[in-house]
Amino acid sequence: MIPITKQGKLICVGTGMRMAGQVTPLAQSYLETADVVVSAVPNIFTRKWIQGLAKEFICVLGYYEDCDVDGKDRRDTYRRMADTILDQVRAGKTVCAAFYGHPGIFACISHMAIKDARAEGYSAEMLPGISAEDCLVADLGIDPGRTGMQSMETTQFMIYERNIDPTALLILWQPSLAGELSLKRFETTAARIQVLVDKLARHYPLDHTVILYEAATSPLETTRIDKIALRDLPTAHLVSSTTLVIPAAFALKRDEAIIAQLNALPEAPRLETEAA
Ligand SMILES: C[S@@+](CC[C@H](N)C(=O)[O-])C[C@H]1O[C@@H](n2cnc3c(N)ncnc32)[C@H](O)[C@@H]1O
Repeated sequence: MIPITKQGKLICVGTGMRMAGQVTPLAQSYLETADVVVSAVPNIFTRKWIQGLAKEFICVLGYYEDCDVDGKDRRDTYRRMADTILDQVRAGKTVCAAFYGHPGIFACISHMAIKDARAEGYSAEMLPGISAEDCLVADLGIDPGRTGMQSMETTQFMIYERNIDPTALLILWQPSLAGELSLKRFETTAARIQVLVDKLARHYPLDHTVILYEAATSPLETTRIDKIALRDLPTAHLVSSTTLVIPAAFALKRDEAIIAQLNALPEAPRLETEAA
């Protein structure tokens, strides 16, 4: 652990999914008391709310336009956002970096900024927030403990060899970017979603019911819970906030060999007490 030697400080917080209502009291106190809040929160109402709380407010969302520049992609945008946070820390300020949901779940900017700040001798920490996955568990009534849960980014699932277990819940994040390999565009195509379906079909029947989930981010919105057959995914409407939920397709299968091994173990010997 590199010792803290410098004055600037970074706290990455999550604002939850729902405007103003899912931020922890500790995160809110940093939003209010930090010298500056650097925000990458896309929801305009949440952004305005944070802006109203913050002493000084920097919005880095406009950096996504960098992707239109030749030779630049999302990774450059994320690096520039992290650098903006670090510049404020290096200026000796207490900086609160605000992200929607949980600041460390599918949010590489916070991880980058914390790693770099610590390496340069600044105090840096992350506070947990309520993620899309947390909302999903509540809204869909799915307990990830019942079957176990796999959770990964859609394109990562597509382009790497993954050992998928269809007896467990599978959550695919960012299906609206499925197979978008240029890292410059923010949409997918029906053809790419078909490739996703073909890969999923290695493990799931095409008539398996999957769920398109979008948590409401304000009291004015309704939560989207659309249940469709896997085969119909290419024609479904996907937006940047869609998460694809694939419930288990098959029942858990007992591993009889392990169960027999466990049953064959001797009872744990009793500890003898000193008095005895
Ligand atoms: C870059 S990740 C950010 C995740 C966020 N940090 C969190 O903690 O939930 C973006 C992905 O999160 C999921 N997501 C974002 N907003 C959502 C919402 N309102 N409902 C459901 N999933 C959402 C989608 O899978 C989306 O593509």
